[in-house]
Amino acid sequence: MKILVTGGTGYIGSHTCVELLDAGYEIVVIDNLSNSKIEVVDKIKEITGKDFKFYEGDCCDKNILVKIFNENDIDAVIHFAGFKAVGESVLKPLKYYRNNLDSTITLLEVMNEFNCKKIAFSSSATVYGKPETLPIKEDFPLSTTNPYGTTKLMIEDILRDLYVSDNEWSIAILRYFNPIGAHKSGLIGENPNDIPNNLMPYIVKVATKELECLSVFGNDYDTKDGTGVRDYIHVVDLAKGHIKAIEKVLKDTGVDAYNLGTGNGYSVLEIVNTFMKVNNIDVNYKITDRRPGDIDACYADPSYAKEKLNWEANLGINEMCEDAYNFVKNFKEDK
Ligand code: NAD
Ligand code: UD1
Repeated sequence: MKILVTGGTGYIGSHTCVELLDAGYEIVVIDNLSNSKIEVVDKIKEITGKDFKFYEGDCCDKNILVKIFNENDIDAVIHFAGFKAVGESVLKPLKYYRNNLDSTITLLEVMNEFNCKKIAFSSSATVYGKPETLPIKEDFPLSTTNPYGTTKLMIEDILRDLYVSDNEWSIAILRYFNPIGAHKSGLIGENPNDIPNNLMPYIVKVATKELECLSVFGNDYDTKDGTGVRDYIHVVDLAKGHIKAIEKVLKDTGVDAYNLGTGNGYSVLEIVNTFMKVNNIDVNYKITDRRPGDIDACYADPSYAKEKLNWEANLGINEMCEDAYNFVKNFKEDK
């Protein structure tokens, strides 16, 4: 089976490529390298000992997608390509609507032309907006609070409409909670060049002394210790969820959404303290004001994915913190 992976050199995409190759799939990867590095292609090959074709190109460009489908017999697609920074999407909404929507619509049109109607799509827990109760189930009301989230919800709607129009489609909408950590090899992971917005990359940069101090955004939330609670999931567990989703779309038709989370909520302080303990390193932090738009707590009910995809997360918070730090230490030694 040959799977096209869009955005395959990115953080989650690269880990999924490794799992696909390890599971015996052939892959073809397209990425425009707008948020990843070409070196990742060789790292994936080094980890797996397997080869694959990489196309540097943009999913908004119909010509390159047609070329890929002409040159390869693609059975299904995993679509990661897209922009993901919430704050930037508020400042530059058109950039987000253009890239995330255009790339997806172009991809779906080309898939249709080549009669390839099986896709797993990267959605996000952000489509649940501010949930009224926890844990979050897939049938909760959907709403968004920023343009990035709106692109995800719009694409979900496009995919649902597509299935209604043509029941041959097989579509898995994967709603990720908070992916962190890295592959055990330390060869691939997440290391943003800019100042990170998300918690774990920020903690890592404080630990490596690239940044001075972590701001803990608020300690007056209605949570166990007052700091925000999230469902952190090891990126390797998340990647394995894609293998299960692809098995499902290859087998059945339909459109369905699945929460990919652990079901456990950890607070910011729990993450910081665990990180310090398992890596035996200090992380300087101070309590500051809340970040506008943040919610108290967010965690999944992952039971639907377990029932339908036979998938559940196995790795715990210690491994997530160890592996996140291991990758960045390795990365710095490489330079
Ligand atoms: P990432 O930025 O590391 O990976 C995305 C990849 O897509 C990058 O390599 C980028 O160069 C590429 N890309 C972007 N636009 C493209 C285009 N038009 N054509 C070709 N390539 C393009 O992000 P990630 O964390 O790996 O996220 C993957 C997907 O999962 C994204 O769609 C993101 O919105 C979604 N997601 C991520 C998170 C998270 O916390 N990381 C949470 C929920 C959902
Ligand atoms: C963010 C995005 C969300 C996206 C998710 C996964 C925002 C507002 N939301 O969510 O749309 O789906 O990432 O990519 O950006 N924190 C600190 N200090 C920091 C950074 C974060 O205390 O420097 C806290 C936050 O207040 C939150 C927790 O850490 O309680 C996790 O934050 P983050 O990693 O940014 O993820 P989310 O807020 O869940």
